[in-house]
Amino acid sequence: MKILVVGSGGREHAIAHALARSPQQPELLCAPGNPGIRALARQVASGQEVDEVVAAAQAEGVDLVVVGPEAPLVAGLVDALQAVDIPAFGPSAAAAQLEGSKTFAKEIMIAAGVPTGGHAVVATVDEGLAAITSYPAVVKFDGLAAGKGVVIAVDEAAAREALVDMLETKVFGDGEVFVEEFLEGDEVSLLALCDGERAIPLAPARDFKRALDGDEGPNTGGMGAFSPVPGVDPDTLAEYSAIVHQPIVDELARRGTPFHGVLYAGLMLTAAGPRVLEYNTRFGDPETQVVLPRLRSDLADLMLRATRPGGLAGAELDVDPRSAVTVVLASRGYPASSSKGDVIEGVDAAGALDDVTVFHAGTGGGEGDAPLVTNGGRVLAVTALGDALGSARERAYAGAESIAFDGRQLRGDIALAASRLPA
Ligand code: AMP
Ligand code: GLY
Repeated sequence: MKILVVGSGGREHAIAHALARSPQQPELLCAPGNPGIRALARQVASGQEVDEVVAAAQAEGVDLVVVGPEAPLVAGLVDALQAVDIPAFGPSAAAAQLEGSKTFAKEIMIAAGVPTGGHAVVATVDEGLAAITSYPAVVKFDGLAAGKGVVIAVDEAAAREALVDMLETKVFGDGEVFVEEFLEGDEVSLLALCDGERAIPLAPARDFKRALDGDEGPNTGGMGAFSPVPGVDPDTLAEYSAIVHQPIVDELARRGTPFHGVLYAGLMLTAAGPRVLEYNTRFGDPETQVVLPRLRSDLADLMLRATRPGGLAGAELDVDPRSAVTVVLASRGYPASSSKGDVIEGVDAAGALDDVTVFHAGTGGGEGDAPLVTNGGRVLAVTALGDALGSARERAYAGAESIAFDGRQLRGDIALAASRLPA
């Protein structure tokens, strides 16, 4: 079996690592990969452009393409592969709109009866202010906004500023703007494997989006994650999945754009029950670095089955009861900027620790005598397994602390609060 993994982040390294554990012993290819992925997979494309990936997949005669990031999904990579009869794990461009457009996601959620915060699309600042009935309130921009498209406004002045920025100054360009009810609670990421007909939930995870300890500082791509999440036991997971995944899969099937791949629901667990904040149509990063190391089932088999309508019928996941924690090491300046070329030391020593795996994200070099160097914002994710969140976290930090590079940044509190709760 030949499998091509598309993408170059920590998420794709975790996917490749899980595929490499498949009893089918697949031959792994990557497009473009990173130094960690390329230790497991042969690079066959210089990037992840649709035409180049399709040509490489055809030339290699691959049995499955796994698409990691959202951009190639939205660009129609899965559709283009299907058109040449190559099974591809991931949604079509039409189904990926669930992530590509926040207002489309809201519309689908309402049609499918999925609980989410109340919202109103607004065209003017006055309309926006009139639609807000209490503070804090949330103002959202539907479009690319470099992580700044969600503003939690504590009072009317803050809401006015956000609305003026988005609707009048158009700091993010053109796009719909809506105000949303502020939801309070703990967040959880629930990912499910989908085959167009059903959703099978993977282990729950929580990620840490802010740059600094105590959830201070700017938003990032994610500075760490852990799994499982206290309070979300297997029965609760099944109950939540029936509320937030299955109705979306049903609704998209009804519309003739069935969902295949990973459906990621970002939930707020409020006093009134779970509410969906957003959907992503791919694995989360860094959630994947804790979810997949706990998956004992054959990922290659599950992914291939998910590409076929109803292919996951009867699938049951075997999940490691141990806990996983991942700690992201970022480069100097992240998230505002990033640093390239800083020499990284200690990766092999960290990976040699018991139950520790180092996933590469923004790394470069490492071939022949060339040193491994930083090559992006999030550089590495150090994952460890342990009998409980506390021991997994101690191991992950032991691994993280044995890796050194100039400007290294990490949070010290990943999974700390949760490790003090009963499982
Ligand atoms: P989103 O891109 O929609 O997931 O929003 C990014 C982050 O903003 C979320 O992970 C939440 O922490 C926060 N957020 C978004 N919407 C709300 C809401 N309605 N109430 C409270 N926090 C929210
Ligand atoms: N960890 C959040 C995401 O992957 O979008």
